[in-house]
Amino acid sequence: MLDDADSRVSTRAASALLKVGCNVARAKSFLRYTAALGELSERENAIIAMGEWGDTEAFVFLVNELKDRQLPVMIRRVILASLTKIDPAKSISYLIEGLGHVDVSVREAAADLLAKIGQPVLESVLTALQKPKQEEGALLALQQLPMPPQKPIEEYARAAVSRAVEYDALMRGVKAEASNEAIGLLLESLQKKSNGYGVRALRAIGLLGDRDSMNLAIEILEMHNSAQRANVIEALESLNSRRRSIIRPLMRLWEEESAPDGKADWGRLIADDDSWIRDCALFAAHKLGEIEMENIATLSLMERILFFKRVPLFANLSPSDIKQVAAIAEEVSFSNDDIIVRQGEVGDVMFIIASGEVRVIASKDNKEVELARRKVGDFIGEMALISKEPRSASVAAVGNVHTLCINQKSFESLLRDRPDVSLAVIQVLCERLKEAGLKLHR
Ligand code: CMP
Repeated sequence: MLDDADSRVSTRAASALLKVGCNVARAKSFLRYTAALGELSERENAIIAMGEWGDTEAFVFLVNELKDRQLPVMIRRVILASLTKIDPAKSISYLIEGLGHVDVSVREAAADLLAKIGQPVLESVLTALQKPKQEEGALLALQQLPMPPQKPIEEYARAAVSRAVEYDALMRGVKAEASNEAIGLLLESLQKKSNGYGVRALRAIGLLGDRDSMNLAIEILEMHNSAQRANVIEALESLNSRRRSIIRPLMRLWEEESAPDGKADWGRLIADDDSWIRDCALFAAHKLGEIEMENIATLSLMERILFFKRVPLFANLSPSDIKQVAAIAEEVSFSNDDIIVRQGEVGDVMFIIASGEVRVIASKDNKEVELARRKVGDFIGEMALISKEPRSASVAAVGNVHTLCINQKSFESLLRDRPDVSLAVIQVLCERLKEAGLKLHR
C-alpha cells in the first residue's frame, strides 16, 4: 500500500506500519521523501502522518523543513500543526516565530495552535507582544487564551496609544502642507499606521474585559458611518476609569475630519522605523522640493504606486498592497501599430496602459472589426489569463504606448487574495462581453 497512487492511502499505510512496528525504516523514509518532494497534497498528507508517528526524528526533520523560506504557506501551516502534535512544549518557539510570518494564514494558524496548548504559552506570547513583527499575531493568540495578567497588557496598550497619537500628530502636520498625490499617499499611510496602533490598543484592553463587545466596537470604528462611530466612543466611556483614561487620547483618531495642525516634521518622518513610511515621506518631501530623493529605484517604484492608485481596478487596495502590485509589474513600451497581443495566441501576461492608447481588433469573416479603444488606466490581456483560452482579440498600439505588465502567477494570486479586485475585474469583463456582442452582431 506504500505504493498506492492516492497519497492518503500510502501515507496512512506508512503510519500504520510505524504504529505496529513493522517495516519501520521503509515507512519513515517514505514519509520523509514524500513530505519534502511530493506534490502539494502528498506533502500535506505525509506531514500529517509524521505528526501522528511523532518521534524526535520526525520533529527534527520538520523543523529543518521550516527553514526553507520558499516553503508554500499551506505546508508551513501543516508542519506547525504536526510539530505541536509531536511535542507541544518544544513546538512553542516555532509557533511564536510563526506569529510574525508575513502571511496572515500562518499567523492565524500559529495563534490557534498556541491557544490550544493554553496557559503554558502565555509568557512567551506576552514577550512576542513586545516585538513589532509579532505583536499582531500575539494579539490573535491572546484573544483565544485565558485572561492575561493586567499589568503587561495595560502597559502594551499605553505604548500603542502613544504611538497612535504620535502618528496622528505627524499626519496632521503633513496635512498642513500643500496637497498633491504624493502627500495624499503619505497621509493615507500615516492614518493607517495611527489607526492600526489605536485598534491594537483597544484589542489589548478588550482582552481584560468583554472581548466580543470590544471586537464589535472596533468593527464599527473602522466603518465610515460617523454617527455610529460616535455611539461606540460613548460606549467605550463605560469602561472602568483607569482603562478609560488609557484609551481616551485615541478618541481624536476617529473624529469626522482630522484638522491640520503644526507643520510636517520631515526629519522625523524620513527616519521612521517603518520603511514604507520612510519611502512615502521621502517621496512627498522630494515632490515638494524639500529633500532630494537619491534612490532612483525607490523613486520609480513610488511613481508607479501613484499610477496604480489612479487605476480604478486597484482603487480600493491599501497603499502597501498596491506596493506589492507595483513591485511585480514590469514596464514594457510599444510603438505605433505594434501588436501587443495577437488573437489566437497563448497569453501569460496582462497589461495596464500607463500612457497612450490601444485598439482592440477582432477578425470576423476575414475582416477586421475594431471592438474598442483603450486608454490610460485600462487593462488588456486579462481574459486569456482567466479563461486559459487563446487571446480573444488582437491589441495594437496607437502611437507610443507605455504599459505595466503583470504575469499570470502574480495576477492569479492578486485575484485570490483580493476579492475587491476580482469583483472589479468581473465587472469590466461583463461590460466587454456586452460591447463585443453588440459590435460583432452588427
Ligand atoms: P485577451 O483575450 O487575453 O487578449 C485580447 C484582449 O483584448 C482581451 O484579453 C481583453 O483584454 C481585450 N478585449 C477583448 N474583447 C474586448 C472588448 N470587447 N472590449 C475591450 N477589450 C476587449
